[in-house]
Amino acid sequence: MRKLINKLLIKFGLLITKAPAVLADKELTTSDSLPAELTEKVKMTASTSTPDNELFKIFSADTNVHKWHHYFDLYSRHFERFRDRPIRMLEIGVFRGGSLRMWKEYFHPDSTIVGIDVDQSCAAHEIADRNVFVRIGSQADPNFLSEVTGEFGPFDIILDDGSHKTHHQIISFGALFKTALKDGGCYMVEDVHTNYWIKHVDSPETFIELAKQMVDMLHEPYFDRKETQFRHQHSEALSELEVTYLSANLSGITFHDSIVVFDKEQRFLPKSELR
Ligand SMILES: C[S@@+](CC[C@H](N)C(=O)[O-])C[C@H]1O[C@@H](n2cnc3c(N)ncnc32)[C@H](O)[C@@H]1O
Repeated sequence: MRKLINKLLIKFGLLITKAPAVLADKELTTSDSLPAELTEKVKMTASTSTPDNELFKIFSADTNVHKWHHYFDLYSRHFERFRDRPIRMLEIGVFRGGSLRMWKEYFHPDSTIVGIDVDQSCAAHEIADRNVFVRIGSQADPNFLSEVTGEFGPFDIILDDGSHKTHHQIISFGALFKTALKDGGCYMVEDVHTNYWIKHVDSPETFIELAKQMVDMLHEPYFDRKETQFRHQHSEALSELEVTYLSANLSGITFHDSIVVFDKEQRFLPKSELR
């Protein structure tokens, strides 16, 4: 019934979203190029175990934090390398403050953890004497984001767990990646399954669709070029190349269930060598 209402609303232009109508159906398109054994339906079962890592233990010892269980292994995989030194982390979305306390416990004790939220009541979750700060404003307001960056940044880690609206995810990434994230830093957007839920889609392209485009940007240096142009000490070897800022500063994108991770690192001209 809801699908039908969504379809009708889209048909008559009554939904604010300009999302492709397919989102209303939530149907998967699978390419015919894939063998049937990879696209046939199989059972997905419930897990009986809980994550076995330190962060999950910290999560379980506190309250007022809302996270999906399968995120804990992913957090450990992407954040472990930041634990040996004081870092600066920005989390978009404070809610009841539990996640700020969790990050404070997990990272080096001298780390600065900053949360932002539109909800005024979240200010109560600041613990200034432990370097846990909260600022009130919208993740969709680039001026506010730049003020927060000026006060606390640049950050080693930025985690978007805010409104989960697609246009907010897009604005925040656009406003923060270049100026607010350090070289070597990590930008994580979680709960991107909401990009497949019609009430969160309020932009012509979803955040996931933009992230897929960025996979092409990673490979921009190779567009219209041949391998010998990258070959070490070859007469045709390029010495420089003009690419987009993202291509020159994004070392990797990792897609997981509901989480996309962007690793920021200055990239150099790719070099190949035939020995
Ligand atoms: C999913 S909760 C955050 C959960 C928290 N990080 C945790 O792990 O427990 C989302 C939060 O985003 C906030 N929010 C909604 N719209 C926002 C916006 N435009 N800018 C910043 N925060 C927003 C909500 O007030 C809510 O507290």
